[in-house]
Amino acid sequence: MNSQEILDDIVAAIRPQLGKAGAVANYIPALARVNPCQFGIALRTRDGVEAWAGDAMTPFSIQSISKVFSLTMAMRLAGERLWERIGREPSGNPFNSLMQLESEQGIPRNPFINAGAIAVADCLVTCGDDPKSEMLALISSLCDEPVHIDEEVAASEAATGFRNVALANFIKSFGKLDNDVCTVLDVYFRQCAIPMNCLQLARAVNFLCRDGSHPFSGVQVISARQARRINALMLTCGTYDAAGEFAFLIGLPCKSGVGGGIVAIVPDTLSLCVWSPALDASHNSLLGQKALEMFTSRTGLSIF
Ligand code: DON
Repeated sequence: MNSQEILDDIVAAIRPQLGKAGAVANYIPALARVNPCQFGIALRTRDGVEAWAGDAMTPFSIQSISKVFSLTMAMRLAGERLWERIGREPSGNPFNSLMQLESEQGIPRNPFINAGAIAVADCLVTCGDDPKSEMLALISSLCDEPVHIDEEVAASEAATGFRNVALANFIKSFGKLDNDVCTVLDVYFRQCAIPMNCLQLARAVNFLCRDGSHPFSGVQVISARQARRINALMLTCGTYDAAGEFAFLIGLPCKSGVGGGIVAIVPDTLSLCVWSPALDASHNSLLGQKALEMFTSRTGLSIF
């Protein structure tokens, strides 16, 4: 497979479509300013071969892609106990929905919807020493470059995160949040506000195509079984109410964020990241999805 040629072809096919459909997330003011006419793609194989094209080196807000890293940390710290507070079923609802929490007694459907990520952040506050620094250290080590929190985005997120405040309080009302709501949300808002580029993200999720082993040191980040389980959750829940459509059209475990990034895993083979800020109605990158569909159609690399 000539990865570079494939990525260059995808960029050439996507470029004419930039700016024609979708909309940048505007409920977080700091994200509303991003130019929608950008597209980047990068991959890293299991053996460390890398390729990238388009705006692959432009940083963007990783947003919900951070839920992959927080889940990794929580699985490492809490093991099976984590699943006493969080389910593993797709929600079929938007990422920030409150509906199921009521009838399901404050147990979020899965760790990738906002309610679930807030429960994961609660676990990190309980089990970790300093979750924000530990998350930055984990991601920096995985992509072999320092990453930081964009404080302006984090503040914008906190100032407008009314639904997340509601979700956290709702979980707390069922006695299923151990820590103070503000402390937990501070972790959640800050993890969302990390800027990274496509190549950094393709590296940072590469352990998921390597049975949990670190892309540079080879040390186990999590067990092979845990890595497979994260991939299963990404396939079934990583793109919210579009998870079925993603499995149908792309056929890979994916995790999206409202910054327009999507990471995807071809188990045992490679990790990918695409980015284009304009989103569809499910809050997934419109052209990012198209690019992933082109990639799996052209290479035949899908899990099915
Ligand atoms: O909770 C929020 O609203 C954001 N910080 C993250 C949401 C997100 O990225 C959902 N993804 N598509």
